[in-house]
Amino acid sequence: MVQNDEWWRDAVIYQVYPRSFADSDGDGMGDLPGITGRLPHLRELGVDAVWLSPFYPSPQHDAGYDVADYRGVDPRFGDLGDADKLIAEAHNLGLKIIVDLVPNHTSSEHAWFQAALAAGPGSPERERYIFRDGDEPPNSWQSVFGGSAWERTPDGQWYLHLFDVSQPDLNWDNPEVREEFLAVLRFWLDRGVDGFRVDVAHGLVKDKNLTDWTTASTILGGLDPAGPPPPMWDQEGVHEIYQSWRQVLDQYPGGRILVAEAWVAPASRLARYVRPDEMHQAFNFPYLEAQWTPAALRSVIDESLAANDAVGAPTTWVLSNHDVVRHASRLGFPVGTPRMPGIGAGDPQPDAALGLRRARAATLLMLALPGSAYLYQGEELGLPEHTTMPDEFREDPAWERSGHAERGRDGCRVPLPWEADAPSYGFGPADASWLPQPATWAEFALDRQQGVAGSTWELYRTALGLRREHGLGRGGVTWQDGAFAFRNGDVLVVTNFGADAVALPAGARVLLSSEPLDDDGRVPTDVTVWAAL
Ligand code: NOJ
Repeated sequence: MVQNDEWWRDAVIYQVYPRSFADSDGDGMGDLPGITGRLPHLRELGVDAVWLSPFYPSPQHDAGYDVADYRGVDPRFGDLGDADKLIAEAHNLGLKIIVDLVPNHTSSEHAWFQAALAAGPGSPERERYIFRDGDEPPNSWQSVFGGSAWERTPDGQWYLHLFDVSQPDLNWDNPEVREEFLAVLRFWLDRGVDGFRVDVAHGLVKDKNLTDWTTASTILGGLDPAGPPPPMWDQEGVHEIYQSWRQVLDQYPGGRILVAEAWVAPASRLARYVRPDEMHQAFNFPYLEAQWTPAALRSVIDESLAANDAVGAPTTWVLSNHDVVRHASRLGFPVGTPRMPGIGAGDPQPDAALGLRRARAATLLMLALPGSAYLYQGEELGLPEHTTMPDEFREDPAWERSGHAERGRDGCRVPLPWEADAPSYGFGPADASWLPQPATWAEFALDRQQGVAGSTWELYRTALGLRREHGLGRGGVTWQDGAFAFRNGDVLVVTNFGADAVALPAGARVLLSSEPLDDDGRVPTDVTVWAAL
């Protein structure tokens, strides 16, 4: 097969959350052999690549984003042989594999942190992390998950953790840390992975003086485009790190990529992460956060395309991931509802039918945009958030650390339903699932949707086929007068946000529609249509 080193410019990349995709051994926790066994499903869906959230050895205090060993596989998920098989099978099927890299912090169970605790103040081992002396926390920084970002050790020093107390931040001013991650990159590149999704890419370098910052240090801290970036996010020094990583990746064939998880605004600032000598892509969180209005979407689309075009990078699009309320539920709240850190049984509940209708329209709009799109496992089934999960099951550290003010992210992480009538809906061979699956999920199971005209699965599969056929990922956006509509190549895309149905231009031939058109062939409210002109 001819190698296409630029495959990522228009790729549709599917996020697998290993804990919740497929369980091969019946312990209620997904695993790598489970994923490998289900890869043909992703091939059939029509995605180009799979991004795997972390599967490394970890005490799982933050669902694997607390890595204890960057070169292994947690026994819960399998072993290195299973990772090799997964990569080989994906490649056989023509799918690329992207793994998650977590460089901002290690687990407190990582050998380095254990050595730092044992060696004591002033040791070179402590220099790999951010330790400080004092009677009080060294500054006012808050953890993203709530509470102080500093924890005291028994000998009186404090260490920084921007996330959970079990996730100490690394000291990226230390050359040893830099060397180690270059070696970790090579370790996985040598095993054949096609790229890395870089966790908290905007956080590695901190302001030298650890300047006080009184605003809660949410991961969204950098999203205020007006002021300077907070002292823990989006510091200039991060860029030289990614330049050095890019040099390593460029030594490997086939187009290996870096994807930034960077909560940075405005778009022009985020685009600095994807300059030609740095990363290849950055997640477009302003797009995910945009409200369901034509004005908000048009402006984020225009700003994103302009900023990325200026540096020659593809724009990415994303609606859901393992950190946010699934878009089939998010869009079931009134327009203007602020970002929700999880939903519990006592909270206002979304309008499920409206949410799914808008989610299907939103996805069809997204998949028509030029660039690369990210899908989160289960959205192809129209899966909603679990919005009534009993609190006793919650595992997200944000739930405890926020003093139960935030429900956290468990509701979007529930194991997938594959077969309506099987135990655990076919997630695994046993009736076991690490988070409870809602009793109403049979209707979302894959086997209820495959081959069923109008199902969400068939909508996604057809859209991905048409996207490829019409080269939408390599096209452009030309806005049309009137309703929210744009042309991308020979395809007209119309989304109706208004109360009245919208007519298509004469001669337009409908290729795909997120819901049926009305009896007069017009586009109803909250529907997206692709039409050939
Ligand atoms: C971003 C990840 O997506 C999230 O799940 C995690 O909790 C934080 N980074 C910390 O690693």
